[in-house]
Amino acid sequence: MNIIILGLPGAGKGTQAKVIVENQSIPHISTGDLLRKAYKAKTALGELANEYMSKGELVPDDVTIGIAQQRLNEPDCGKGFLLDGFPRNLEQAEALEKYLASGGKKVDHVLYIQVDSRILLERLTGRRVCSGCGETFHLSSHPPKVMDRCDLCSGILVQREDDREVTVKERLRVNSELTNNLVHYYSERGILKIINGSRDIAEVNKDILTILGG
Ligand code: AP5
Ligand code: ZN
Repeated sequence: MNIIILGLPGAGKGTQAKVIVENQSIPHISTGDLLRKAYKAKTALGELANEYMSKGELVPDDVTIGIAQQRLNEPDCGKGFLLDGFPRNLEQAEALEKYLASGGKKVDHVLYIQVDSRILLERLTGRRVCSGCGETFHLSSHPPKVMDRCDLCSGILVQREDDREVTVKERLRVNSELTNNLVHYYSERGILKIINGSRDIAEVNKDILTILGG
């Protein structure tokens, strides 16, 4: 199954993606994770991307479309995939549609996790990520068992650079209209599923798995 998970920053895309990919046995493709990995590896592409990411702006389309297509070309995507954070605007959506059509494929479901924007600021500023394995926590809604340590690998938990309040506000501003455009685009194609993401993690997850199982 070919799935897109859509939602504003902090909507819970990454959190839900983990369970979906396990349930569906498909790879999780997060353009944000791919770009952060490139930056960590000190590649020229990663350095360029970080100039935009650290300010909460979108990385240019030629970069993100390129890395998404490169990843989708890998053999493990043959039986399906979950795209998280891509597409982010209509140009990327159209490029994706064209790319998939050229291989006789299409998107089956677009899961739109809708969350009140007032909640998102709190979710993002309270997020902590394991510097060892990448697991995500939240200081109040999903706290680690031991302060500042990952439950899975005991790695140190850190705050993402773009989760500081001023950058979060910019990310929410930049993405609001673009996300609405994508909701409209996929709704017109009859593949949009709207999920109330303001509830707790398990409830949101249950709804998603019901949609995918039905
Ligand atoms: P990216 O890494 O994709 O970030 P994002 O889209 O801003 O989304 P997040 O990862 O911040 O949020 P999420 O929805 O995954 O939330 P999470 O599950 O972690 O992109 C980063 C940057 O890269 C962009 O700003 C841009 O610069 C660049 N980029 C990436 N893709 C691009 C593209 N295609 N084009 C251009 N530029 C691109 O949850 C958040 C927190 O809330 C966690 O602490 C979690 O524990 C908690 N939480 C989750 N669900 C719930 C719940 N139901 N109840 C309570 N707490 C919850
Ligand atoms: Zn860890």
